[in-house]
Amino acid sequence: MDRFLINGPCKIKGVINLSGSKNASLPILAATILFEEPVEIKNLPNVKDIRTMLDLIKSLGFIIKKNKTNNSIIIKKKIIKTFASYSLVKTMRAGILVLGPLISKYRKATTSLPGGCLIGARPVNFHLDALGKLGMKHRIKKGYIFANAEKGLKGSIIKFPKISVGATENAILAATLAEGKTILKNCAIEPEIRIDLTNFLNKAGAKIKWKGKRSVEIEGVKKLNGISYSVMADRIECGTFCVAAVISKGEVKINGLNPKIISTELKLLKKIGAKIKNFENSILIKGPKKIKSIKLLKTKEYDGFPTDLQAPFMALLCKANGKSVIQERIFENRFTHVGELKRLGAKISIIKNKAIIKGNSNFEGAELMSSDLRASVALVIAAIVAKGNSIINRIYHLDRGYEKIENKLRKVGVNIKRLS
Ligand code: UD1
Repeated sequence: MDRFLINGPCKIKGVINLSGSKNASLPILAATILFEEPVEIKNLPNVKDIRTMLDLIKSLGFIIKKNKTNNSIIIKKKIIKTFASYSLVKTMRAGILVLGPLISKYRKATTSLPGGCLIGARPVNFHLDALGKLGMKHRIKKGYIFANAEKGLKGSIIKFPKISVGATENAILAATLAEGKTILKNCAIEPEIRIDLTNFLNKAGAKIKWKGKRSVEIEGVKKLNGISYSVMADRIECGTFCVAAVISKGEVKINGLNPKIISTELKLLKKIGAKIKNFENSILIKGPKKIKSIKLLKTKEYDGFPTDLQAPFMALLCKANGKSVIQERIFENRFTHVGELKRLGAKISIIKNKAIIKGNSNFEGAELMSSDLRASVALVIAAIVAKGNSIINRIYHLDRGYEKIENKLRKVGVNIKRLS
């Protein structure tokens, strides 16, 4: 099992180019199931979750070709299977995103339930209810969702009881080829959905229009046309490197993302003391001498502060000049990094869904264990400013979502080595 060895403290300085967004690529890849013609996807990040999604699509009977520039072309074969196996869906919740397209285009699907994970129970009831309103019938047996829609899906008006990224994506994917108009209310509006998935589908001929803050209207179309599309840059990766620059009191230029997309995070970093210059598609960020604390930071759905950056910000606030509080409002158990940060010297206590961070911690290198994707990157960030050697075990979690992070960090001055 691979591990990272980091020898700190390191100061980050230089330029980082962002990879394509994992969370935008996953629903876009699931959407390729809706096509008859080949689709070319550019800028896919080379991370484990994307390789798993490509394997899942391949297992359904599609051909995946890589061209000279490493873009993926997804080509439909004559016969498509409608079975998404446990072995592929268990490692990645986004596997459930094939259900909407399969039921919409092929009118039947047998999909493994993704199951829970360390950060919370993560049920799929909102996905199933929304697809049910479009005409899908299902039963759950032996860990699988057996679904069918013999007469095809029909447009409907659906209001999600709670905002869900995955359920919004699954419903949009299903409604794209459904008969008639679908209106989805109380949708997730993460840029991966409202910008990238929408642009991708509309470019192929879908009729998707966003109305107001959280509603979308989808006029079903008969077919989508083969296209070539480049996925947006990863905003969570961008936020992660911003935090790494600030905690190390360094200075980096991060290329590839429009700063407006992460304006909430950038405002927070400014409040903490960072100096930030925004360009059209890049950010120049410089850490302050003294990091200021934040009274109360709550995770929220977009355009609020993202739960995916909660762990990296916690590492940062451990180094602030006083007490901060982080409240996790999206997932019930997303504090698995706390125990590991404490091993480096952090002073954090948990009361229900709040983490109280004492601040002014001097980190000293230690051996650490990754527990999930974003928790692992928080440990990397903390180890960068810890004195001495840190070993981070089980980095396969991190490999699910960060492309060549050790190469990117080494290039800007971090003493980091992958031990195999
Ligand atoms: C997506 C992101 C993940 C991010 C999360 C929240 C991808 C691949 N993953 O995950 O990185 O942390 O959004 O921004 O894009 N819920 C239910 N029933 C459902 C669906 C969700 O109760 O059917 C609950 C979840 O347990 C959670 C909350 O709703 O408490 C939000 O989850 P959701 O937005 O669906 O997250 P994901 O799509 O799984």
